[in-house]
Amino acid sequence: MLKTIEATDPAFRDDVLAGLSAPIPAVPARWLYDRRGSELFDEITRLPDYYPTRTETALLERVLPEIAERVRPNSAVVEFGAGSATKTPLLLDAVKPVAYIPVDISGDYLRDSAAEVAERFPSIAVEPVIADFARPFDLPDSIASHPKLGFFPGSTIGNFVPRTATDLLRSFRDLLGCSSQLLIGMDKVKPVERLIAAYDDPTGVTAAFNLNLLERINRELDGDIPIDAFRHEARWNDILSRIEMHLVAVRDVTFTVGGQSFSFAEGSSIHTENSHKYGPRGSRVLLLAGGWTPLAEWSDPAGDFSVILAEALPNRFAP
Ligand code: AVI
Repeated sequence: MLKTIEATDPAFRDDVLAGLSAPIPAVPARWLYDRRGSELFDEITRLPDYYPTRTETALLERVLPEIAERVRPNSAVVEFGAGSATKTPLLLDAVKPVAYIPVDISGDYLRDSAAEVAERFPSIAVEPVIADFARPFDLPDSIASHPKLGFFPGSTIGNFVPRTATDLLRSFRDLLGCSSQLLIGMDKVKPVERLIAAYDDPTGVTAAFNLNLLERINRELDGDIPIDAFRHEARWNDILSRIEMHLVAVRDVTFTVGGQSFSFAEGSSIHTENSHKYGPRGSRVLLLAGGWTPLAEWSDPAGDFSVILAEALPNRFAP
């Protein structure tokens, strides 16, 4: 039978082969989001146990008028990610920017969502940029003279370890420039049972999301991983303040990917994602380390989630 192999990003192959051979096997979380993975993540955001999306949306609905008062007039909003159908319109309605620049690596999805925004907000210039926001890229010249507001909702920052989160925040500062502002969503530390329920839901959607990575490896990298040899596990790592997603071998297993052989002993795992949760000071220290001075923070009544408005103040001599 003829087997067709989809055109694959060579970086996926490199990351998977290196990651599966590493002393602590791990695959970067960005590879969880192929078409199926993105659909499953969408489903996750609607699960009763997955509180971040609905909590942040309700919070933004409540506090955006206050946030908008602190945003400079005639700002250009630069969103890191393609934008959500609910959160982005809330922001644009409140801030009334002159321009909206969504930045995302997935061109098709970006074009569709940008077209929807352009139709709904005819007075805002919508200029999508197809780029991986974690790598250097340029903003359109048309917004050069406008104050900038970066928007990074969803606690996506939590998917980066502090070292790379700091690098990312610094790259946002370099891109947007001194005196620009950043509105960022950050998930908070809370009882472990709630965190585990959010990342290991009883309906198994998060498990399917995690296991889909193995399906993707088999399909795109000519692998023969027996999917039933692995199970999803969400673990709380207290010292690093993060939920970790793992794929744990339920038996000794040997498989090949791209012609290379790998063995996993029962109980060993492939680490697939981190989701850091921040204490009240931790979120602000991270922003400061990334070159952003917090101006104000808003949380839901239960203190589950925060949005922080920060500013790229000029560097000054420190005592
Ligand atoms: C995209 N990101 C903010 C999600 C999170 O909560 O860390 C990804 C996710 N993984 C499993 N559930 C949700």
